[in-house]
Amino acid sequence: MSATRDSDAERVAALEREQAERIAQAHAAAAAAQDKTYWLDRWGVDLNALMQRPGASELRAAVRAAREVKRRAVRIKRAVDRRREEARSARRAEAVAPPEHRRSVFQRTISPDSLRASPVTDLLYERVDDADVAAVAALAEEHHPHELDVPDAAERHRKTIHLGVHHGVPGVLEATGLTQATPPEGVHSMSRGPGAAGGSLYYADMVADGLAQAGIGLAAGGSVLDFGCSSGRVVRVLAAAYPGCEWYGCDPIPEAIAWAREHIPEVEFLDGPGRPPLPFDDGQLDAAFAISIWSHFAEPAAKAWLAEMHRIIRPGGVLWLSTHGLQSVVHDRGRRLRSEEQLTEISAALNKAGFWYAPEFGEKGDFGVIDPEWGTAFLTPEWLLAAVTPQWRVAAFAPGRLEDNQDLYVLHRP
Ligand SMILES: C[S@@+](CC[C@H](N)C(=O)[O-])C[C@H]1O[C@@H](n2cnc3c(N)ncnc32)[C@H](O)[C@@H]1O
Repeated sequence: MSATRDSDAERVAALEREQAERIAQAHAAAAAAQDKTYWLDRWGVDLNALMQRPGASELRAAVRAAREVKRRAVRIKRAVDRRREEARSARRAEAVAPPEHRRSVFQRTISPDSLRASPVTDLLYERVDDADVAAVAALAEEHHPHELDVPDAAERHRKTIHLGVHHGVPGVLEATGLTQATPPEGVHSMSRGPGAAGGSLYYADMVADGLAQAGIGLAAGGSVLDFGCSSGRVVRVLAAAYPGCEWYGCDPIPEAIAWAREHIPEVEFLDGPGRPPLPFDDGQLDAAFAISIWSHFAEPAAKAWLAEMHRIIRPGGVLWLSTHGLQSVVHDRGRRLRSEEQLTEISAALNKAGFWYAPEFGEKGDFGVIDPEWGTAFLTPEWLLAAVTPQWRVAAFAPGRLEDNQDLYVLHRP
């Protein structure tokens, strides 16, 4: 782009120089013609009569040449103005939208639209009496107008449960097994407010659905780890829905684990180490899930933790994980979360190496987690396939499944 701009500037400068020269010539010729006219006038010579005479041809030619030079000067000036305006509008257009070669890397037609089932919400909602659903609807009308006016039934049921928990509707609390306990502001949690009361039904649905795709039905029991659970917003909902399972959660933020231990007794919470191993025996678990965890590891840590998951999950077991990928580039661009330059850098790294990482939490760390290998990571399916096969088989892949952003992988250990 800058090379084109430079050559534009050079051409405009050359045209301006030519224009200046020709205008000067025109002025000189016009002055000479004026001078002649003046003296002819002073001497009482009739110019029209003079022009008719055979010897006047030289004078006529000089006047014509002066007029022609003037006309050319006007044409050149117009051309220069036009080029300037074109260059200005090209720059304006580029500021609004990036050039085609850069725009193309941010466009995708793969739509995140598989694994849309809602097994946890369905299970919990069925347990709630109609009278309690009506009680929640009345409270919603009063306190959260239009909150339940959503066409998607699963989404409406999720909201009904969350609002029922938020307002402490006894029938909803009793039927679902969810509680009103909410981490205070200083304790790490990825969602808060009335729409998140009792935990995250949205992610509990996504986890249960993904595990079922790989043959792990939670109603049958089993032992499952929420790897990087924070204060437990997802595992608490799963534990309420499937009390027959052994539930574990681990995270390196001590306050989050302490709060979860105190308020969610159905789950065993562990202080997570920065690096493997975890305190599980080989093959002890049926499954583990990790929401937005591999979206933060640098490459060595990402590989080390994949190997650790392979150690602690039994043959036939499942690892559910999410990552930032190509869809996240589109997501971040649409919401202007990153600059065009950085998105171009990320896309280029994904094309070249399948992995991009930056230690974005800096010296302060992420809620106290200070680790040069804990920042922000983007990775491609190619990178993940190369890293996990043949130890794992891919049971499901859903690009952008998490909030139209992160990709979901469900891996089955043969
Ligand atoms: C983006 S949050 C996601 C939390 C949780 N999965 C959820 O969806 O609510 C990332 C979590 O990973 C945790 N974390 C940081 N380093 C970790 C590590 N080495 N192993 C496991 N979790 C880690 C952070 O403390 C944080 O709670």
